[in-house]
Amino acid sequence: MTYKVDSKDASDIAIIPQFYAGREVFITGATGLIGKLLVERLLSTCPDIRRLYLLVRMKRGESPETRLNNLRDCSVFEVLRKNNPDQLKKLSFIPGDIMKFDLGLTDKTIADLHNVRIS
Ligand SMILES: NC(=O)c1ccc[n+]([C@@H]2O[C@H](COP(=O)([O-])OP(=O)(O)OC[C@H]3O[C@@H](n4cnc5c(N)ncnc54)[C@H](OP(=O)(O)O)[C@@H]3O)[C@@H](O)[C@H]2O)c1
Repeated sequence: MTYKVDSKDASDIAIIPQFYAGREVFITGATGLIGKLLVERLLSTCPDIRRLYLLVRMKRGESPETRLNNLRDCSVFEVLRKNNPDQLKKLSFIPGDIMKFDLGLTDKTIADLHNVRIS
């Protein structure tokens, strides 16, 4: 079965990269199945997105920084690593835990997030 994209659908799709251009986004769950796909889609389809801040907790002795480095090596980013590796430099980790008050964010990290418009 094929699906034909008509001109209205195509213009709707073009709105997404425009919307994210220059924006900073805060994402939870980025180390999970759905989160990885979301991050990959945003980086692949929105070339001008400014930065993605990923809330990452310490897990099994691995720091958020190590976990972000491991995330960048995931197979879901294989095409991006090959074709547009600079997009992966737009990922920053924010140490935190959604079960904690204020997501476990420090005052400094909250201040660092002042440009985030989408979360
Ligand atoms: N997968 C599906 O097909 C599907 C379909 C429909 C709806 N959903 C819903 O979509 C959501 C995500 O699903 P998923 O499959 O991506 O789940 P997942 O692979 O288990 O990922 C869960 C994510 O949430 C993070 N997380 C959990 N507890 C946390 C905490 N206390 N602090 C910070 N981060 C925490 C995990 O981080 P760690 O890596 O640190 O554990 C991980 O990044 C769920 O609500 C699920 O019910 C999923």
